[in-house]
Amino acid sequence: MFKMRFSTISVAVAILAFVAMPARAADEIEASLEVCSSCHGQNGQPINATIPTIWGQQASYLMKQLHDYKSKDRNSAVMAAFVETIKQPDLRKVANYFAAKPWPARPAANASAAPPNGMATCRICHQENFQGGAPAPRLAGQSYEYLLAAMNSFANDERENSADMMTLMKALTASQREAMAKYLSAL
Ligand code: HEC
Ligand code: HEC
Repeated sequence: MFKMRFSTISVAVAILAFVAMPARAADEIEASLEVCSSCHGQNGQPINATIPTIWGQQASYLMKQLHDYKSKDRNSAVMAAFVETIKQPDLRKVANYFAAKPWPARPAANASAAPPNGMATCRICHQENFQGGAPAPRLAGQSYEYLLAAMNSFANDERENSADMMTLMKALTASQREAMAKYLSAL
């Protein structure tokens, strides 16, 4: 009798420990991500325009970027150092964590101008409203500086983690890329 009760209790304890485990792991990951806010922002608004918004970005896109920084398929000395601190099996949890947060609200944007020529192509992958969808990232409301730098880096072979984006960006002139970045940042 005693034996049976004991084993029932130990099973119950084991189950409780198991149930509590994912929550504790999530807390630990969350704590380790505080450092990200020092650049990507406490409330999702990056501290300056050269740093991308990651709150509310597409999860699959975030996952791929974290992976690419780790494997050096996308080069950034800063981000390479920070993804070092994330273990490979946690990359998806980190991506989901930021994707689940709301895209930061901004002061009402100016009524946007007509889209520059050529933007219909972008909608095929980045979606009608430019809010992205697997696998293409949200572009709407990302900063002008970051968007332009990203577009130029694909065009200039500095960012090589998407053959499609490299081809597309090379086909545009520098001033077309500027006009598109300006339009997208105002959405
Ligand atoms: C010191 C500032 C800094 C810190 C801290 C930082 N980042 Fe970044 N992050 C950047 C910059 C700058 C870029 C753009 C780099 C580039 O052009 O590839 C970036 C890019 C990214 C991107 C790609 C976004 C996109 O739209 O392509 C992701 C995802 C990301 N960071 C996640 C993180 C996570 C997760 C952490 C914490 C573990 C973190 N960052 C910490 C500065 C920072
Ligand atoms: C064939 C699908 C496709 C089309 C068409 C396309 N994109 Fe992309 N774009 C992608 C994908 C996928 C990525 C993510 C690449 C990666 O893995 O880093 C991306 C990434 C980007 C990024 C980088 C975002 C970031 O946060 O770093 C910008 C900016 C961008 N696209 C702008 C454009 C513009 C402007 C057009 C139209 C001229 C366009 N794209 C057309 C699929 C596409």
